[in-house]
Amino acid sequence: MRKKEDVFSRNDFLWGSGTAAYQCEGAWDADGKGLGEWDYFNHNSALNIHNEDGDNASNFYYDYEKDINLMAEGSQNAYRFSISWARIMPTGYGEVNQQGIDFYNRVINYCLEKGIEPNVTLFHYDLPYELARQGGWLNHKITDYFNEYAKICFEAFGDRVKMWSTINEPRYYSYCTNIVGNYPPNRRLDFQSYFQYQYNLMIASSKAIRSFKEMGLDGYIGVVHDNGHVELDPDTINPDEVYEMADFFYNTLILEPSLLGKLPDNLEKMKQKYGFMILHDINEEEIFREGVGNYIGINLYNRQYVKHWEEGESEVFHNNKGTRSNSLEGIRLESLFESSFDPHVRRNKWGREVNPRVMYTGLMELKEKYNNPLILVTENGHGIYESPDENDYVEDNERIEIFSEFLDNLLKAKKEGADVRGYYHWSTMDLYSWINGYEKRYGLVRVDFEDNYKRTPKKSYYWFKDFINNYYSNNRNG
Ligand code: BG6
Repeated sequence: MRKKEDVFSRNDFLWGSGTAAYQCEGAWDADGKGLGEWDYFNHNSALNIHNEDGDNASNFYYDYEKDINLMAEGSQNAYRFSISWARIMPTGYGEVNQQGIDFYNRVINYCLEKGIEPNVTLFHYDLPYELARQGGWLNHKITDYFNEYAKICFEAFGDRVKMWSTINEPRYYSYCTNIVGNYPPNRRLDFQSYFQYQYNLMIASSKAIRSFKEMGLDGYIGVVHDNGHVELDPDTINPDEVYEMADFFYNTLILEPSLLGKLPDNLEKMKQKYGFMILHDINEEEIFREGVGNYIGINLYNRQYVKHWEEGESEVFHNNKGTRSNSLEGIRLESLFESSFDPHVRRNKWGREVNPRVMYTGLMELKEKYNNPLILVTENGHGIYESPDENDYVEDNERIEIFSEFLDNLLKAKKEGADVRGYYHWSTMDLYSWINGYEKRYGLVRVDFEDNYKRTPKKSYYWFKDFINNYYSNNRNG
């Protein structure tokens, strides 16, 4: 039986990388796996704009040993991956699929054999289709199904897995599914569902964390939030009010339950401003109180740069077409606030800010506002178009430059007292980037999707390896 203390016994900082089940496993209907909402969407919807899917993805289901070997050879000692709910429970509740449990046992055991600390996420966007059919996260019953599923995973893997995340990015997931409309079930500008989703996801997470404690398991467990660090355009009118509304929109409905065990104090005020209500069971405050984790995961890519609303109806701006679109990423919320587009900040080809300084400001904000919680940077990376040379080698210098700036900012925040203890680069290898398909690449290792999923480490993989080795030789205690 492994113990919580084992996680940081060799090094007091983890360096690794991450993936998510639907994005890399493939084997979409193998060995008893149930249909997922993303399987259904990609096979049936005209909104699958690139006409791609995760049927085979990066073939991780069959090639996991290759990937874990490469992590270990690259000096990484931590791997964040997610479990496919429908692989464990084909319909999301009831029957358990032993072959799914066996697969994750193989992955976990192989990680440990190679000296890699597994960090397991229970839900990373891939809802079982049967639950989607029953209303998805708008159906409050799903919070109990999630709790049952979580308990099965804790029971099966909890003796060895000592780092857990309940839900990946409840806020951004709610945003894409209900505001942007690019993820199934593709609702657009539906603010009622946006807030209700976040609430239900957080209740589900808190129920699972409470169960983890009741089962007497030890380990780290928390939620993974997409960093929504808000910065105001200096020209903002009524800055305090704009800040409060934006921070609620991007952060507090996730961070307060996760870290403080309660809903935000300004919830009633915000319900009036945004015009939504929350449907819930009685006495759910208790679940939040009892379901506080012991770390927070932060996926850190960008900030939210906003100003007062100027004019126009609510609208969302998003770009899943890369260089085939000029759209920048942002939002306008009528009468509330809107994104400001800073011409001095770099952007990726998909219109999103690339702003490594935010690694520092985001981590420091968490330290100051939430009593210096234990933080893992559970994702950070840079999506680009790539072309390999004749040996399949990718010289991803642009990624390395940005990666290195992000890490400098992380080390600066650590030095100034943020309790950050791990970093997982997104992603371990190339994978399916949701609605962006396969052309937006994030991996440290190239995957040739046309040639048997051949793996070839990129220049950034070697750069990261050197970085980790230098880090440990300069910091003997980790
Ligand atoms: C994160 C998600 O938000 O961003 C990952 O947790 C995702 O699953 C990553 O792949 C990159 O996203 P995108 O939108 O750039 O493809």
